[in-house]
Amino acid sequence: MKYQIWLVLLLSLGCGEQQQPDDSPDTLAGMMYQEAFRPQYHFSPPSAWMNDPNGMVYFEGEYHLFYQYYPDSTVWGPMHWGHAVSTDLVSWEQLPVALYPDELGHIFSGSAVVDWSNTSGLGDGEQPPLIAIFTYHDMAAEQAGEEDFQYQGIAYSHDRGRSWIKYEGNPVLPNQGIRDFRDPKVMWYEPGQVWVMTLAVKDHIEFYESPDLITWSKLSDFGMDAGAHGGVWECPDLFELESDDGQSRWILLVSINPGGPNGGSATQYFVGDFDGVNFTNDHPAETTLWLDYGTDNYAGVTWSDISVDDGRRLFIGWMSNWDYAQVTPTDRWRSAMTVSRELELVENDKGALIVTSWPVREYDAITLDILAISDTVIQTDYRARLGHDLLDLSLAISMGESPDFKISFHNDQGDSLHLQFDQRQGTFGIDRSASGATGFHPGFADRHIAPYRPIDNEIRLRIMLDWSSVETFVDGGILTMTEQIFPDQPLDQMYITSSGALGLSAEIRKLRPIWAR
Ligand code: FRU
Repeated sequence: MKYQIWLVLLLSLGCGEQQQPDDSPDTLAGMMYQEAFRPQYHFSPPSAWMNDPNGMVYFEGEYHLFYQYYPDSTVWGPMHWGHAVSTDLVSWEQLPVALYPDELGHIFSGSAVVDWSNTSGLGDGEQPPLIAIFTYHDMAAEQAGEEDFQYQGIAYSHDRGRSWIKYEGNPVLPNQGIRDFRDPKVMWYEPGQVWVMTLAVKDHIEFYESPDLITWSKLSDFGMDAGAHGGVWECPDLFELESDDGQSRWILLVSINPGGPNGGSATQYFVGDFDGVNFTNDHPAETTLWLDYGTDNYAGVTWSDISVDDGRRLFIGWMSNWDYAQVTPTDRWRSAMTVSRELELVENDKGALIVTSWPVREYDAITLDILAISDTVIQTDYRARLGHDLLDLSLAISMGESPDFKISFHNDQGDSLHLQFDQRQGTFGIDRSASGATGFHPGFADRHIAPYRPIDNEIRLRIMLDWSSVETFVDGGILTMTEQIFPDQPLDQMYITSSGALGLSAEIRKLRPIWAR
């Protein structure tokens, strides 16, 4: 007989009901950030279309987040760089558009750096300039059938990124006739005292170096025969990571679309060495490592110029997938970013160095209330009303005799989301097929899986739920799954079902929205 517990968690703090949109002009301003499905503690643009994060750089106490932006529509179009800043990686101040298209083209993805010693000569003599390095996409040339319509340009700012001047000698890296030649990620390579650019070129990566961010020369190629090749390579990043026990590797992130492990867009990574010229892969060419097994973490890269004192490698990704990004059921704005995450180098139980993802600790500051459940044996059907719509749950589940379990989130409207672990299959998965609005794209209502086996019969899960997303970090972030969902009302009830008793410890955090109401 099924044993059922209804644990009603009457958490006292106010729980925001998800509101339906009211389009009358008077209420539009008041509704900002409260429209149906609007993320409450994730970054989203004030209105209109957004895709990749761009130009992430830390300078004078501010984390800059630029992003691919088309302010005139909720679908992709002529790209600008939108702009926001944060002092804590959690709450964001929206700023005016930073870069507009010009006669050289639309402004595609790229990066930004602080030119500390004014190598570019573009400083004003007072402060180091911020330099943005981006791809120009010449739409007219593409439509005319030419091949060389993507090239790299730069812009500089003397006022903490508030205004930008395009370099008059653009482009700084012209195209030699390759259709996909984009998304420059630039870093200062300390051993060689040069700038290194990592560029996505169709099916591989090219590295370039420069003394001044203006004159670029090619160093090497990587990846034509390594990793996943189910689609075009985009939005790379290259950085060094050191593990807690002092091992150091270079990590190369490469987004790929399509060809992700669960369809469409995804981000793979390589662990290896970079000697200032070549990247060498630690793994056999056929190995593919995925930064995230979910369908909605794409084009993510890391912040430049984080202080040595801080020392973290900080990441944010675009929480969508090109398979359906342009038809998700939101009005007035489209797309959000993942939570800000820290990437770390960790040795897994097989002795391999892998990259983990973990929400930055700054999210602790938006915690309203914490409910703790310690060392409780739960039977095969456990239910809890969480009484809140923005959640950060940490669960430790010891398997006992049960070979599988399912954590489900429900609402009273009948929507449900299931996180499933199956020991026999060796998988962890997310089933969003009944999670609310799914009919906007034939592939959206689906179940996605990742290979996973627990260590010591225990699974630790961190689950972050917002109005239209779920981010799951397993065992300290060795496995991550990020997915969009569009429930009619927040999923504020949790069920845990299994074929045998389980041990449960949990810390359930109610979060507050980051946008002013
Ligand atoms: C990735 C991408 C980039 C490109 C940008 C255009 O999502 O296709 O390669 O620069 O989007 O918006």
